[in-house]
Amino acid sequence: MNPNVIETTDIAKTYVMGAEVIHALRSVSIQIPRGEYVAFMGPSGSGKSTLMNIVGCLDTPSKGQYILNGQDVSRMSDNQLAEVRNKEIGFVFQSFNLLPRASALDNVALPLIYAGLNKRERNERALESLRAVGLADRASHRPNELSGGQRQRVAIARALVNNPSVLLADEPTGALDSKTSHEIMDLFEALYAKGNTIIMVTHEEDIARYAHRIVRLRDGLVESDEVNLQLAVHSA
Ligand SMILES: Nc1ncnc2c1ncn2[C@@H]1O[C@H](COP(=O)(O)OP(=O)(O)OP(=O)(O)O)[C@@H](O)[C@H]1O
Ligand SMILES: [Mg+2]
Repeated sequence: MNPNVIETTDIAKTYVMGAEVIHALRSVSIQIPRGEYVAFMGPSGSGKSTLMNIVGCLDTPSKGQYILNGQDVSRMSDNQLAEVRNKEIGFVFQSFNLLPRASALDNVALPLIYAGLNKRERNERALESLRAVGLADRASHRPNELSGGQRQRVAIARALVNNPSVLLADEPTGALDSKTSHEIMDLFEALYAKGNTIIMVTHEEDIARYAHRIVRLRDGLVESDEVNLQLAVHSA
């Protein structure tokens, strides 16, 4: 069996803006085995979000090949891509993106509606997912009745409720204070230890240090791709 959950081969992404052609990604070939925990770093404009959007099936490359969990997704239609995305990818964003009027439980249960589960099954699975992030006792709270770190935990529980192949997090600690950021990184480490595959984008070196591998982008190319020898967590 192919150990890689993600394989990109020479992918590029170009945007045409009037007379200007922008090479957001020039040529990126990357393999990520199942169960790995990777950070994408790089200066502003280096292509991190573009790469995350392609890896997360929100967008397709202009050239090259992307194999996700054994499926070639590089030339799929938007509808096919949406289907793969719902099944394979869990997203976590800097700004949490929770529904403000819905309880934590309902926010986490939402992706299961598309999976066709009945309400009792959805609530059971959602509560289990909240328990995994340490928030079972806040299930009936709305987002404005939770702290920032708790809101991000709800978003993480929602991302994981479908058992996705990959957890993608774009600046997951960007809106959090330092202490809360490190608590969220401790949670990521626990999720990694349980076997989840995690890819996060971060600007912050002390957040990237939690990842087990660090890929640095510059001008749409991979500048370096290394095992993290300065792991922030030693007692997983
Ligand atoms: N939809 C788009 N149309 C045109 N150009 C784009 C588009 N999206 C991104 N770009 C350009 O592609 C390049 C890479 O952008 P990208 O958003 O991937 O950078 P980034 O590494 O995520 O930066 P940041 O750290 O600021 O979030 C930039 O030069 C950007 O201006
Ligand atoms: Mg970005």
